[in-house]
Amino acid sequence: MLSEKMKDALNKQVNAELYSSYLYLSMAAYFDSINLNGFAQWMKAQAKEEVGHAMKIYKYIYDRGSSVVLESIDKPPVEWNSPLNAFEDAYKHEQKVSEMINNLVVIAREEKDYATENFLQWFVEEQVEEEASVDEIVQKLKYVEGSKNAIFMLDSKLGQRQ
Ligand code: FEO
Repeated sequence: MLSEKMKDALNKQVNAELYSSYLYLSMAAYFDSINLNGFAQWMKAQAKEEVGHAMKIYKYIYDRGSSVVLESIDKPPVEWNSPLNAFEDAYKHEQKVSEMINNLVVIAREEKDYATENFLQWFVEEQVEEEASVDEIVQKLKYVEGSKNAIFMLDSKLGQRQ
C-alpha cells in the first residue's frame, strides 16, 4: 500500500504526464496549421508516449493497492512564433518534468518507500533521453537560423518518427 502522501504525488504525476500529452498535441496542431506535417507527426508520437508514461504510473498505483483519481487537465498554449519557439518550450517543459520526477524520488525516500523509489528509476533515465532528444532539435533549429530549405529537410526527417 502506498502512503497517502506518495499516492497523492503519483496521482499528480499522472495528471502532469497527461498535460504533457495535451501540450504536445497542441504543438502538433500548431505545426499542422503551418503545414509542417513532419514536425506535427513528431509531436503526435511524443503525445502518445506521454500517455504511455501516465499509464505506467496508473498501473503502478493499482499494483500497490491504491487508486487513481483523475483531476482536470490544464489548457495548453495554442500558438508559437516559430518551430524553434515551440521546441524551446518543449525543452523547458521536459526540464520541469525532470524536476517533478526528482521530487517524487525525494518523497519516496522520505516515506521509506523503496519499491516506489525503484519504480521511479525508469522515469529518471527516461527524462535524460527526453531532454536530450528535444534539445537536439532545438540546437538544429538554432543552427539553421530559420532557413526554409533546412526546415523542410528537418520536417521530412522528423516525420519518420512512428
Ligand atoms: Fe513524460 Fe516527456 O515526460
